[in-house]
Amino acid sequence: MSVVTIAREGKIAVVTVDNPPVNALSQAVRQGLCDAVAALDADPDVAAVVLACAGRTFIAGADVSEFDKPPQPPHLPDVVAAIELAAKPWIAAIHGSALGGGFEVALGCRFRLAAPEASVGLPEVTLGIVPGAGGTVRTVRLAGVETAVDLVTTGKPVRAPRALELGLVDRIIVGDLRSGAIAFAQDLPDELPVPLSLRPAPTVPEAFWDNAETIIAKRVKGETAPLRALACLRRATEVDFAAAMQFERTTFLDLRASKQAAALRHVFFAERAAPRPAALAGIEARSLRNAAVIGGGTMGAGIAAALRDAGLPVILIERDDAAVERGLANLKTIFDGAVKRGRLTEAAAEARLAGVTGSTDYTALADTDLVIEAVFEELSVKRQVFDALGRVCRADAVLATNTSYLDPREIAKGLPGPDRFIGLHFFSPANVMKLLEIVPTPETDNTTLATGFALARLLGKVPVRAGICEGFIGNRILKRYRAEAEALVRQGVAIADVDAAMRAFGFAMGPFEAQDLGGLDIAFLQREGARAAGRDVPETLGDILVRAGRKGQKTGGGWYDYEAGDRRPLRSQDVAQLLRDQIKPGTALDAATIADRLVGAMAREGEAILAEGVAEKASEIDLVEIHGYGFPRWRGGPMFCTSAGG
Ligand code: 3HC
Ligand code: NAI
Repeated sequence: MSVVTIAREGKIAVVTVDNPPVNALSQAVRQGLCDAVAALDADPDVAAVVLACAGRTFIAGADVSEFDKPPQPPHLPDVVAAIELAAKPWIAAIHGSALGGGFEVALGCRFRLAAPEASVGLPEVTLGIVPGAGGTVRTVRLAGVETAVDLVTTGKPVRAPRALELGLVDRIIVGDLRSGAIAFAQDLPDELPVPLSLRPAPTVPEAFWDNAETIIAKRVKGETAPLRALACLRRATEVDFAAAMQFERTTFLDLRASKQAAALRHVFFAERAAPRPAALAGIEARSLRNAAVIGGGTMGAGIAAALRDAGLPVILIERDDAAVERGLANLKTIFDGAVKRGRLTEAAAEARLAGVTGSTDYTALADTDLVIEAVFEELSVKRQVFDALGRVCRADAVLATNTSYLDPREIAKGLPGPDRFIGLHFFSPANVMKLLEIVPTPETDNTTLATGFALARLLGKVPVRAGICEGFIGNRILKRYRAEAEALVRQGVAIADVDAAMRAFGFAMGPFEAQDLGGLDIAFLQREGARAAGRDVPETLGDILVRAGRKGQKTGGGWYDYEAGDRRPLRSQDVAQLLRDQIKPGTALDAATIADRLVGAMAREGEAILAEGVAEKASEIDLVEIHGYGFPRWRGGPMFCTSAGG
């Protein structure tokens, strides 16, 4: 069947793109659109053309899977030009998302009509490229530079009502989009809008560009596409249409072949594969109507907030009334924060909180579909919790632990129906961080596993299945990363140089700054626990600092000193003194060598994790690092960026 078809409604032709799943602009679609322009221009009975799409969305962009191959004609800029300069006016009828090349095709149309829930955008920078078919050049002419800069350099799509305000679409069609668009086409004004390619570009003061460049450079760190996109927008206002198109296309083709674009494509496809592992194809998840969280501390409150954000009613169980109050107060702080940042209205925050019932009584869980335990990291405490859950919960309720380091098999010991038990490892803050490690035990059944993945989809998280080992995937790599960072320090590299190198690599913080923020004591206590259990755990530099009372920012010092009320790290004479016997005299290494050492160590741990089957795919390890530990997305993750392809 053809991917582009033409139907007639009187004098209106309806061109439909039907290329599942997202109507991406494959070579066949591009060719089909060009053929449609030619056929309809030649048809005297056609007055106007509605461009619509079948399935869940309008055209979602160029076909990203074609980006590893040389571009095939007809090229998209020519397709858009053909539509724009067609003798018959084309009208885009947008439902779902008109993204990237999809929005560029819509920009070639004389009018853009949108369903109320539709969105439009130019997300190319999120793939390490810039729009390649006039997105920068036409958007400045359509909606001005401020809107264009925002749309193109952030890559964030905008919903139809906002797009209407910004002038990116002409009208919102409520009700049936196809018939609304046909009616619109039957009643076109005598004077049609001038094609964007024939409109003048706005005149923009130089200071606007300098200011935008400063702001974007600060935001993107080492990521190249946003600044290159800004350069395209600037050029679009400085030279004529054809020259601006040429500049944009050259930039697009250059970036399309870049390392960063390859890395971002790798992440794009890994993220889409993650929620639906092949092993769970056809396995139905349990339905989740409600949930409970045990423990309302840092993690429990964050998990409860995430569940509420997804619309589930939540019961929060704590050990006594005062702790219930503290747990609910923790939740209130989270929702109040969302109000302050403008993410939630006050009414919505109140409703979220009203959907949480605090209790100390486990019998409240008799009809709960999913329980997530987030109590202290102590086996005996967790076992008591699961004892109680085993007694009160329905036999088909999914019971999960958020343990970081304990062995889930030990936690589940003695639980009636261990097949419905699973590890669901959230990351702090749990309502923000996208990663969810899903850790089945050998007894977990596939329905429970599928429910873990379904929960991730419901919460908008990136799920990665992890096998059982100390720290699962993420914390195990973190441990290796920190050990390598300490090895550099022992070798004589300055602590601040290690942190600066990792910031230059693209992390928001270096390994030592991050520990000072989170607290050195958590990992210390875990090592002490292992030592108490008789395991041979060598003394780390961090242990020396904790023993000296330096637990991080909360104690006024860790790897660095801090002045009261100031989070800026200051080099510490005390630390130099405490560690002097452990550190060789100064070795300076350049930032790239330091980053190579640390990322190389992460990748080697990743290889071991793969070899042991703790992770199934290297790309999933990359997702863990990107979504749980702040690894720069545009580097593709430690496995990708140390591989031949990276
Ligand atoms: N190319 C190829 N495949 C694509 C694709 C694209 N542009 N967009 C989505 N897909 C695939 C996904 O890989 C997935 O495949 P799978 O089922 O085999 O795993 C399938 O389509 C469905 O994708 P999602 O799971 O993401 O579907 P959703 O319904 O959740 O989301 C969407 C739909 C909002 C359209 C989302 O897919 C999306 O954001 N896609 C990317 C859009 C984009 O970045 N477009 C710009 C491309 S670059 C460009 O156009 C350059 C131009 O300027 C020249
Ligand atoms: P926390 O100390 O902030 O909270 C624990 C809560 O559990 C407290 O509010 C406590 O009152 C409650 N609690 C203790 N015993 C209880 C019982 N028997 N019944 C009901 N409630 C009880 O601890 P945090 O940081 O929230 O950690 C909880 C779990 O999450 C731990 O297993 C931890 O390893 C894990 N985790 C922690 C992360 C973090 O960054 N803090 C990240 C991922 C997992």
